[in-house]
Amino acid sequence: MTSRLPSNKGLVSGLIALASLLATPTAAQDASTGGVVVNGTNFALNGDHVSYRFHVDEETGDLINDHFGGLVTETVPMLTPKSQGWVEDIGRVKREFPDLGRGDFRVPAVRIQQTAGYTVSDFRYRSHDVVKGKPALPGLPATFGREDGDVSTLVVHMYDNYSSVAADLTYSVFPKLDAIVRSVNITNEGKGNITIERLASFSVDLPYGDYDMIELKGDWAREGMKVRRKVDYGTQGFGSTTGYSSHLHNPFLSLVAPDTTESRGEAWGFSLIYTGSFAVDVEKGSQGFTRAMLGLNPYHLSWNLGPGESLTSPECVATYSEKGIGGVSRLFHRLFRNHLMKSKFAVEPRPVLLNSWEGLFFDYNESRIYNLAQESAELGVKLFVLDDGWFGNEYPRVIDNAGLGDWQANKDRFPNGLGPLVDQVTALTAANSSDKLQFGLWFEPEMVNPNSTLYKTHPDWALHAGDYPRTLTRSELVLNVALPEVQDFIIASLSDILGNASVSYVKWDNNRAIHEMPRDGTAHAYMLGLYRVFETLMTRFPDVLFEGCASGGGRFDPGILQYFPQVWTSDDTDALQRIYTQFGTSLLYPPSSMGAHVSVVPNQQTGRTIPLQFRAHIALMGGSFGFELDPAELSDADRAQIPGIIKLAEEINPIIVKGDLWRLNLPEDSNWPAALYLSEDGSKGVLFYFQVRSTYNQPTPYLRLQGLDPAARYTVNGTDTYSGATLMRMGLQYRFQGEYDSKVVLIEKA
Ligand code: DGJ
Repeated sequence: MTSRLPSNKGLVSGLIALASLLATPTAAQDASTGGVVVNGTNFALNGDHVSYRFHVDEETGDLINDHFGGLVTETVPMLTPKSQGWVEDIGRVKREFPDLGRGDFRVPAVRIQQTAGYTVSDFRYRSHDVVKGKPALPGLPATFGREDGDVSTLVVHMYDNYSSVAADLTYSVFPKLDAIVRSVNITNEGKGNITIERLASFSVDLPYGDYDMIELKGDWAREGMKVRRKVDYGTQGFGSTTGYSSHLHNPFLSLVAPDTTESRGEAWGFSLIYTGSFAVDVEKGSQGFTRAMLGLNPYHLSWNLGPGESLTSPECVATYSEKGIGGVSRLFHRLFRNHLMKSKFAVEPRPVLLNSWEGLFFDYNESRIYNLAQESAELGVKLFVLDDGWFGNEYPRVIDNAGLGDWQANKDRFPNGLGPLVDQVTALTAANSSDKLQFGLWFEPEMVNPNSTLYKTHPDWALHAGDYPRTLTRSELVLNVALPEVQDFIIASLSDILGNASVSYVKWDNNRAIHEMPRDGTAHAYMLGLYRVFETLMTRFPDVLFEGCASGGGRFDPGILQYFPQVWTSDDTDALQRIYTQFGTSLLYPPSSMGAHVSVVPNQQTGRTIPLQFRAHIALMGGSFGFELDPAELSDADRAQIPGIIKLAEEINPIIVKGDLWRLNLPEDSNWPAALYLSEDGSKGVLFYFQVRSTYNQPTPYLRLQGLDPAARYTVNGTDTYSGATLMRMGLQYRFQGEYDSKVVLIEKA
């Protein structure tokens, strides 16, 4: 049999060349283990427990990854097998910015159609800069430092001599949070036009070994479902082509060792700070390395760059923990709370709210709404939210097929506009307090119904592709937010209402995906436009608490969190489904960012009947707790419980919005799901503990806590006192009664 090997290599059977050309020159031991360390063209980004190391290959100018994992102090050169067969050296190394077309057959991070039409690139190291802090990302949401020492940055400048295209790879490290952030900027320094067909924000090759990958998948009303599967040879990935991050997949990936659990073992987490279509690719190549890549979805890119023009990718955060999946989650939560969310409400306790949607849907008028607000105040609710159905005159929004785009109060329902209603509602005093009721309002600003004055006036503002039919979802079309005039219209419409009435909260909904577009790149241009709108409105109305929503959690992503500190987690308010959705969502997102409401039973989505206490305890795990029901539909017994539930909510909410989360028992593994929230200083905690199915003639297992100081003593529910060691190594035991029973237990350092 004849071997078909590249002629320039020849057949070197069984030969492994040690210390090959591509191995790293041994780096001197780093002088520092914090932040960015540069030694010639060897680079290290070090956190308290993480190192991310790479170097410039002297011969090829390529950037080669040395290590992404636990903290190390130097690089041990990698012994690369001498190239044999069809895979060239370039396909056998761990690359930071892989391209396609020069012998690396794995999935590329960049693909550019050059002026002449070919898609080969040859980026080589040109120079680098170390920057204090972290520069902003133009037009895109991004993590930020608050104080000196929070973050430092390394920019590596790459250049393709043949095409005159420059690529800047910007790496930042948040040392205390073991987080590495990367974005890429491509600049056309040539004379012709080029097209960016593919651009990943982050790309890393993990060493030879076996990994599992974890993602969050779902659909409407079942978001945030955790899926874990083995990474196999070849490509496996997921993404969104919906124009938004979507219910279907979340821009989050975790790679873990096969034996990693919730609380033990190596785990890597990756999160793209972006709200639009994205792609996650994981590939185990022929050499056994695992490539992980997150970025813009190539199906929604094709971005033209004229001479002198640039495209900046969104940024991607990567974290590493030896404390299992929970360790990675806690790093992300702290990072997002303190270095991503810009709202002043990010770590503030949230008002207990009542939202009109599931209680009244579209069936109301001014007096019915006022009555609902009055009842809310009598129960002790602090924020009343008027959901869909309040606007549109020529095309009244009294059902869901009309009015979107016409952001004026409906005169039949509100003859004198919203002002008098808002004044009346905000004059009410919430029971058991001296607080006045706050008023919140629903919008869906990016959408338009064909039945609307807006659409009749500006049909071209709706996204479309020439003469192709404009396909409807929920009777609506998407406005082309890439257009400055559409951005200005949205800003003006909301400003008009927020500037003239005392509205303290906005629920920003978004109820369909993007279908027809003029061109692929419109999807990303839309996002840039949307971020401009968000930034303008949040700067103009800093005292308004914005909540994101997209038919529930269809747009629960880190990009949104930059502007909106909370998101409506799911339209499914069934407490059993919610355990899975909320535990899953918490893999990446801090509990503070989750909206969770108590609704009536039988549940409107699943038909399930679950006792009020269990429903409330599940919802209390979200940072924005509330009710979504008409109190008139509650039994007297349930109604009587509500003031106590609100009191508990207000007591524990400061820990929920600022604390660290320990998922003690997972719903997929245990009949007794449990979660512990601990304040960042560890002095206070709240334990949620659930029994799903009833058990009989069998003890409930002890529940071991985590995250406590073994030497400290803790009071449990104000009575018994135990050491942290006892609580973590032996645990607590409780009795449950029947199905859907639950406990909320307060823990305090004695
Ligand atoms: C979808 C949201 O998820 C619901 O909470 C509600 O606001 C409706 N839209 C209103 O149309």
